[in-house]
Amino acid sequence: MRKILAFETSCDDTAVAIVDEAGAIWGEAIYSQVKEYALFGGVVPELGSRAHIEQILPLTKKVLKQAKLSVRDIHAIAATFAPGLIGPLLVGANFAKGLAQALGLPLIAVHHIAGHVLAGYLEADFPKGPFLALIASGGHSAIYSCDHNFSMRLIGTTLDDAAGEAFDKIGRALGLGYPAGKKIDELAKRGCKDRFVFPIAMRNEQHYNFSFSGLKTKALECIRAQTLLDDQCVADLCAGVQEAICQALSERIIKAALQLNIKSVVIGGGVAANSRLRAMLKECSATHDLNLYLPAPQYCTDNAVMIAKAAQAKLKSGLLSDFSTDVQAYLPIEDQDLLNKIFHKY
Ligand code: KG4
Ligand code: ZN
Repeated sequence: MRKILAFETSCDDTAVAIVDEAGAIWGEAIYSQVKEYALFGGVVPELGSRAHIEQILPLTKKVLKQAKLSVRDIHAIAATFAPGLIGPLLVGANFAKGLAQALGLPLIAVHHIAGHVLAGYLEADFPKGPFLALIASGGHSAIYSCDHNFSMRLIGTTLDDAAGEAFDKIGRALGLGYPAGKKIDELAKRGCKDRFVFPIAMRNEQHYNFSFSGLKTKALECIRAQTLLDDQCVADLCAGVQEAICQALSERIIKAALQLNIKSVVIGGGVAANSRLRAMLKECSATHDLNLYLPAPQYCTDNAVMIAKAAQAKLKSGLLSDFSTDVQAYLPIEDQDLLNKIFHKY
């Protein structure tokens, strides 16, 4: 059973995991830097790089110990090489290169979005044939049409803010700290979704793009207009904002699946951990007879298991990387030629 040791350091989580070719997780660990950014209201890349440097070796030792394996039992080393914050990416990618070089193992450069799309790869209910993937995170909101070779074609994207970014910016205005998506999800459970109703952009248009900046502006204006922002008002605002964001995401992916006649839908990225979005998608996919794959919430937010799974898919196809592969802050996953040129040695 070939095992891959994988690293994810593209943003503010240092994550390490070992996954074998049957999809079994031998060990996983994650260190979140979130507390370090409370003061700043967002990620500080330089602090992030330093924290990744401090955490990556102890986490790797912890994961090997958890798996009861030595580095000699590992068959390939993988890491996120793009997109993301350059400093943080460099830490994971160079650690992976060093380890692979020292152990004489193959190196596999993984695209972060491929990780989110393939978080459920090798699980029994993960789609085998063509499927659509909705990836909604702090940096991305997009729909991809994926085939069985996992090539991904972008069919819709946000024209401005990402869904997670909208959650985070509105949450900041509500004093919920950073990142705010999970807190909004929790508070919305006590709120009334119909007290504040927010607009859903481009609802009836023919394309599959999103826009969240109008909703965000309306929510910020609404927050400023409140004379009494008590706990119930905050909960009601959270419920209203969450309803509109989730409705926009789920309407668009279901419409795309029906119009393109694709029967399977995969959801990923931090926002896919949202309980309302998950409930809405389960209901809509049952109504329209679609197969829905939702990763467990801890594999929606950034983690290294998803990077190891995407690396297993690449290893199976022989898509190994050269040691000269460089990290990229921006790299569209739909540009297969560019991706092959940068990431793959064959
Ligand atoms: O995928 P991810 O961990 O990192 C990126 O690649 O961006 O996504 C983080 C984003 C943040 O914006 C966070 O607020 C949001 O996912 N998020 C959520 C929830 N959990 C995380 N948004 C809504 N509901 C949640 N339960
Ligand atoms: Zn992510």
